[in-house]
Amino acid sequence: MKQIIIEGGAPLSGTIKISGAKNSAVALIPASLLCDEKVRIDNIPNISDIDALNEILEYLGATVRRTDGTIEIDSTNIVNKEIPETISRKLRASYYFMSALLGKYKKVEMYFPGGCSIGARPIDQTLKGFKELGAVVVEEGNKYTITAEELRGGHVYLDMPSVGATINTMLVAVRARGKTIIENAAKEPEVVNVATFLNNMGAKVTGAGTSEIRITGVDYLKGCFTEVIPDRIEAGTYMIAGALLGNKLKIDNVIPEHVEALSLKLKEMGIPMEIGSDYIVISKKDNLKKVNVKTLGYPGFPTDLQQPLTTLLTQCTGKSVLEETIYENRFQNVKFLNDLGANIEISDRKIYIEGPTKLVGTEVIATDLRAGACLVLAGLLADGKTTINEVEHVLRGYENIVDKLTSVGAKITLKDV
Ligand code: EPU
Repeated sequence: MKQIIIEGGAPLSGTIKISGAKNSAVALIPASLLCDEKVRIDNIPNISDIDALNEILEYLGATVRRTDGTIEIDSTNIVNKEIPETISRKLRASYYFMSALLGKYKKVEMYFPGGCSIGARPIDQTLKGFKELGAVVVEEGNKYTITAEELRGGHVYLDMPSVGATINTMLVAVRARGKTIIENAAKEPEVVNVATFLNNMGAKVTGAGTSEIRITGVDYLKGCFTEVIPDRIEAGTYMIAGALLGNKLKIDNVIPEHVEALSLKLKEMGIPMEIGSDYIVISKKDNLKKVNVKTLGYPGFPTDLQQPLTTLLTQCTGKSVLEETIYENRFQNVKFLNDLGANIEISDRKIYIEGPTKLVGTEVIATDLRAGACLVLAGLLADGKTTINEVEHVLRGYENIVDKLTSVGAKITLKDV
């Protein structure tokens, strides 16, 4: 087990460079299987979720070269065989192999994916997309056998704009005969990154980034190169660190538009920021105004930043209200923030944060990735020593978090226990 230990209170200044987006990279890697030649992807973050996807690629027999942020994948000789549950349950994104293998071989056998325990996270919309494009899905317990005699274009209406279902449907549709329309598609930048990658291979995808995506299937996808976009959630997490303790902390390599939902909230609180073309400089301020936040699909406020933001809301004056509309169990960080001295009440899908409260270090648990990020931020602020257990969750999604924070002045260490 790994622990992060923080001596709180150190001011943060200097520059943090943002890595490639986890939620793009974890889709681009499986998507590469659709290609009939070799692909190269740059700006791959060095996080354990990528290691887990590599394991699946190598299990299937792909040739993978990973060096310093770049991955080259040659999947021309892979064997389409059942992916064991022990590997697929390591992460949610394993289910992008479902669509990539179905698209390429018209058959896939694998198990329900893993991922943080933040709600039920069904995959019904993904399966609905597959069925609409001609696949037959047989479910036996956790196992899915999905086959298609012929994949053909279809009209897929998603009940909710699910990122996963949008990407999975796109990955099958690029190899299906004819035209597919995805309505009520997710508009997240990660969806656009995947569509760009597919188009670089020669696919015909238009409308990604809007709620209607149109895809015309093609027979052959050629080798290509693409780059992972900067991680807007990592950027947002460090922006919040800057708002808590920054002395002109520079967050570099960001696409400011991708973090606008957060920067507008920070502005509403009264936090000073300089927003450049690809960077944001942010400093701490006292007497922050309370704000209300509701999580929504992009361009709304991202659910992945609500737990990190909660740490900052403990420092605002008055009662802030935060509503989580995407996941039903994403408040597991609240108990631990309260252990650190916060005053937060949970009522169904809302939390009420009364501030400002002084935080004092104690021992806490990272129950999931973003809960862990929330507690790292709290530890940076709290008086004295905070010990965060089970930080494997954090290392799944934040590249070199300890080194990055150390380089800007934090007193933080990672320990094996
Ligand atoms: N949903 C369904 N049925 C489906 C798919 C989704 O009911 O078939 C529901 C989910 O239960 C959830 C909502 O729709 O309530 C959103 O789910 P979505 O499919 O959009 O999420 P996802 O694709 O599983 C990705 C990210 C999440 C991020 C969401 C934001 C990856 C690997 N994961 O999840 O990232 O919160 O989009 O919508 O890309 C994280 O990074 O911490 C994280 C959890």
